[in-house]
Amino acid sequence: MAAGGEGGPAGPLWSPSGSSLVVEADNAGYLPTLPDGAFTLIYVDPPFNTGRSQRRQQTSMVRSADGEGDRVGFKGRSYRTIRGMLASYDDAFEDYWSFLEPRLAEAWRLLAEDGTLYLHLDYREVHYAKVLLDALFGRECFLNEIIWAYDYGARARRRWPTKHDNILVYVKNPAKYHFDSAAVDREPYMAPGLVTPEKAARGKLPTDVWWHTIVSPTGREKTGYPTQKPEGLLRRIVAASSREGDWVLDFFAGSGTLGAVAAGLGRRFVCVDQNPQAIEIMRRRLGGHATVAAFEPALQQAGPV
Ligand SMILES: C[S@@+](CC[C@H](N)C(=O)[O-])C[C@H]1O[C@@H](n2cnc3c(N)ncnc32)[C@H](O)[C@@H]1O
Repeated sequence: MAAGGEGGPAGPLWSPSGSSLVVEADNAGYLPTLPDGAFTLIYVDPPFNTGRSQRRQQTSMVRSADGEGDRVGFKGRSYRTIRGMLASYDDAFEDYWSFLEPRLAEAWRLLAEDGTLYLHLDYREVHYAKVLLDALFGRECFLNEIIWAYDYGARARRRWPTKHDNILVYVKNPAKYHFDSAAVDREPYMAPGLVTPEKAARGKLPTDVWWHTIVSPTGREKTGYPTQKPEGLLRRIVAASSREGDWVLDFFAGSGTLGAVAAGLGRRFVCVDQNPQAIEIMRRRLGGHATVAAFEPALQQAGPV
């Protein structure tokens, strides 16, 4: 099977005119092979820091938005200073951020000028991540925090049961980002009797709080991958923040939900995961729309899997 790049098996893995890709790789090794500004939309749903035991990956690289070694961010403080302050509060988060930071710096590089990053986290990480992304991207590049609210599972009795995820949205350039609210599915009014019948029939634009069920254990979407996200969430994201024909990227792809939605909406996609089980599921789910390949870091090439 060809590697998907224009040069075939010996050529580059990705090319702007090539096919969509499912890539088996550690994203830290693969992302640097992709060119600057290639993607209009990046959605990532990294493993949550739930166990507080991420593998530590030290890096000296902190890429800044202006190309210098350290960006001056919140209240004139540098990214490194802010990171150091947060680390002193929570060294487990520091471990987690050491894993994510070089990958998010790559995400910034890979976004087109009109591009948008969606970072899917949970309530344990999101506040630290917001402060650090403000410093990494620039606070003016923060667009939204989307709350995905669901209702599933047991309810804690000693505190308010936590039933939401957080999705931070950052744009590469606040003057140029693409956002098409007209392309997004609409929601029913809570009190349709208070608006005109035309408005009630059309529904209203979603806000930054999205009520959506989790993937049903018996539903059509279910792939068997434990952390699979619902297509309905991703459909909104892809519809609003990319156009037909654009390239979209998920480098913690799991079961390939972003790819499935992208294919349905006429976008081209790259889905990367290091777990062979995820690749098998994506081969079944996306194989008709994409080339499936393993990335060989030593060769900087892809080969069939
Ligand atoms: C929360 S899951 C993503 C689920 C996905 N959004 C879906 O709808 O199925 C996170 C994924 O990141 C992958 N992953 C973790 N570390 C990785 C790395 N360094 N490189 C590539 N993939 C990685 C895991 O194998 C896992 O499939």
